[in-house]
Amino acid sequence: MGPLQIKEILQTSPENQSIVVKGWVRTKRESKNAIFIALNDGSTIHNIQAVAEPGQFSAELLLSVTTGSCLKITGQLVESQGSGQAVEVKIEDILVYGTADPEVFPLQPKKHSLEFLREIAHLRPRTNTFSAILRIRHALAFAVHSYFNDGGFFYLNTPIITASDAEGAGEMFRVTTLDLNKLPRTDEGAINFKEDFFGREANLTVSGQLEGELGAMALSKIYTFGPTFRAENSNTTRHLAEFWMIEPEMAFFELEDNMDLAEDFVKKVITYALENCKDDLNFLQNRLAEEEKNKPQNERSIPLLEKLSFVVDNPFERLTYTEAIEILLKSKPHKEKKFQYPVGWGIDLSSEHERYLVEKHFKKPVILTNYPREIKSFYMKLDEDGKTVRAMDVLFPGIGEIIGGSQREEDYDKLLGRVHEVGIDPQTIWWYLETRKFGTAPHSGFGLGFERLVQFVTGMGNIRDVIPFPRYPKSAEF
Ligand code: 4AD
Ligand code: MG
Repeated sequence: MGPLQIKEILQTSPENQSIVVKGWVRTKRESKNAIFIALNDGSTIHNIQAVAEPGQFSAELLLSVTTGSCLKITGQLVESQGSGQAVEVKIEDILVYGTADPEVFPLQPKKHSLEFLREIAHLRPRTNTFSAILRIRHALAFAVHSYFNDGGFFYLNTPIITASDAEGAGEMFRVTTLDLNKLPRTDEGAINFKEDFFGREANLTVSGQLEGELGAMALSKIYTFGPTFRAENSNTTRHLAEFWMIEPEMAFFELEDNMDLAEDFVKKVITYALENCKDDLNFLQNRLAEEEKNKPQNERSIPLLEKLSFVVDNPFERLTYTEAIEILLKSKPHKEKKFQYPVGWGIDLSSEHERYLVEKHFKKPVILTNYPREIKSFYMKLDEDGKTVRAMDVLFPGIGEIIGGSQREEDYDKLLGRVHEVGIDPQTIWWYLETRKFGTAPHSGFGLGFERLVQFVTGMGNIRDVIPFPRYPKSAEF
């Protein structure tokens, strides 16, 4: 249906058949004997070359064929004379759908910085780098759905507007229809949320987990894949205010099953990208190599495809938080006081500690388990010693935490105890607590930050460059 895409045309055997190609001009080059137009429609990283003879078209028409303009080209598909491609189009007719005045069109055929491209997020999908990232992002999303579908999971849509704070970190965006200039007040002078749209305070969800657990207590294996929102003021290369999370939740899974699933899952979706996004990954690999050209040999990172294959082919290292602290205490940077933050049992590992474990010590992905209860969420199952919880974080090279998850506390009294301990009003999650009253079951789950996965697979340094329209502090332009 619809016109042939350039990806399909490039795979068609040339028999001088007539063909229509539609796309945006990447470059136009005029030589004595021919005019070459490189056209791209985003279906592939590769352009199709279209060739006209000098004098075939008016100077006026040719002037409007500039980088960024959109064309319909009619012609013949012929074997290419040049070396760069197998086929090309011998142009018979050009229709200019839309011009792009080179005086003002910001995307010129030269290298633009990623920072500059972020300022023109409406146009950056037309660059090779961003179209490659967007195609890979799509392939990974497709692989996620197909992995879970094959594994007997059901896709559960959890609410985006909620009244609970699943992570208890208080980093929520408020949702309200109250007039901020005329706030209704209670007799005590507080804001009267009974008059708000939902008759209570509401916010954008930070995680679909709590509702996901309700699904798992009926369908056994579910997953969510939706937007989540965090109003943390982190201006880092790993944080977004709006990001997509994948949260599987499984009845009858213990922590070990959870780790096995997490490891198999990320390996399978990365494998899918390796098998289905070869051209785009090659392009990004070359781009990275180009970027690092001026670095000394020993500081260059391993080529992207090699890094991805390594992660797929090797078992992740599994150890407890307590063992990780012991390794850090014995480490060179700790002894030489090179870590910025102190190390000791009970600390929340900072990214320098995580990176030391993954990039220096083990040199592969690591799954850390059994963290101190004080630094983890209320819903995690207490270990027998009462000091640690059945948590698991998957740490990746260059990324840090890519997955966070746990076995869940299925015992009603213990869970209620934790709810009180961390200061959550049990009334706000009575429905969650009831699952532990009615047919409770051991269960586990985790959350994978989708953009961190895309970042890892594409090798991009900044998370703002792997989502079409990033949201971060002071930025919601597009
Ligand atoms: O570790 P987190 O906060 O875990 C949860 O939300 C659990 N409810 C998940 C579960 O057990 N179902 O977040 C999970 C993952 C992190 O490991 C990270 O990859 C990603 O979500 N993440 C972010 N990604 C981008 N920007 C942010 N601000 C992120 N915060 C977390
Ligand atoms: Mg976490």
